[in-house]
Amino acid sequence: MDNYEKICRLKKEKDVVILAHYYVDGAVQEAADFVGDSYALAKRAAEVSQQNILFAGVSFMGESAKLLNPDKHVYMVDPCAGCKMADMADADKIQSMKEKYPQAAVVCYVNSTAAVKAVSDVCVTSSNAVRVVQKLPEKQIYFVPDAHLAQFVAQEVPEKDFIFHDGYCPTHQKLRKEDVLRAKQKHPKALMLSHPECKQEVLALSDFVGSTADIIRFAGEHAAEEYLIATETGVFYQLQKENPNRHFYPVTAEQVCPDMKRVTLEKTLSVLEHLEEQEEIVISNALMEQAKLPLERMLALAK
Ligand code: 13P
Ligand code: SF4
Repeated sequence: MDNYEKICRLKKEKDVVILAHYYVDGAVQEAADFVGDSYALAKRAAEVSQQNILFAGVSFMGESAKLLNPDKHVYMVDPCAGCKMADMADADKIQSMKEKYPQAAVVCYVNSTAAVKAVSDVCVTSSNAVRVVQKLPEKQIYFVPDAHLAQFVAQEVPEKDFIFHDGYCPTHQKLRKEDVLRAKQKHPKALMLSHPECKQEVLALSDFVGSTADIIRFAGEHAAEEYLIATETGVFYQLQKENPNRHFYPVTAEQVCPDMKRVTLEKTLSVLEHLEEQEEIVISNALMEQAKLPLERMLALAK
């Protein structure tokens, strides 16, 4: 029996659903029941029927699944896989900003801890941020933690006033204008598709900006044969699988999230084999009550 067959048998036996993000290794995406961007994963986590969710992604994704489906047991393939950007915002700083700007809506990127969500008014993901912010009644928006996504949303929603936080994703932040120009010289026919966590200087040179799912959709619907992709390289697996005759190139070899790469097929199998001994995600009732509200509001506004 190979690893996939073992995983399949254990999922059934132990009533487990595997949810995976597009950034994890392709081998893990293949073993998952559902692969998506952060928004699709949050929606799916709220709907699953299995008693146990095994999350192939980073900690904020597992926490969100628990917040949206508190009766389920949520496990991580690697509990040490975190998000460096999520660690760049803290609840105390947000509280003091709320006192300074009482009229502002605190809009929190889903890449954040449960404690940060608990002091926020609404969550957003990269695929619904523009839509959700447009629908908010407040004119002033305090956007945490990602400064680049906030800049992108601010451009798309010019009628609102933004207060920026200084967070960023170290993986996307590495990409620079010079890298893009070099990659474009090498692949002059390629369309450039970028994630909004990239810097403005990269987004300004892009043909399309969107979440991982948006990027995959765009490449599937567009006639071009070559694409430069400015986001984490895990996304290449799905791009190539859905478009076997097209060519996808990274802007640099650096666009790798070390935390997402902690999630492997071997660990997935091992967690399933020893599920009873694994630590599941636990969030206190008090935190749960507060932190689930902005996520639920996002799901309602993003429809
Ligand atoms: P998506 O919203 O595209 O899933 O992005 C999540 C993420 O962590 C980007 O770095
Ligand atoms: Fe966080 Fe960046 Fe990794 Fe996404 S790619 S999980 S934002 S560190």
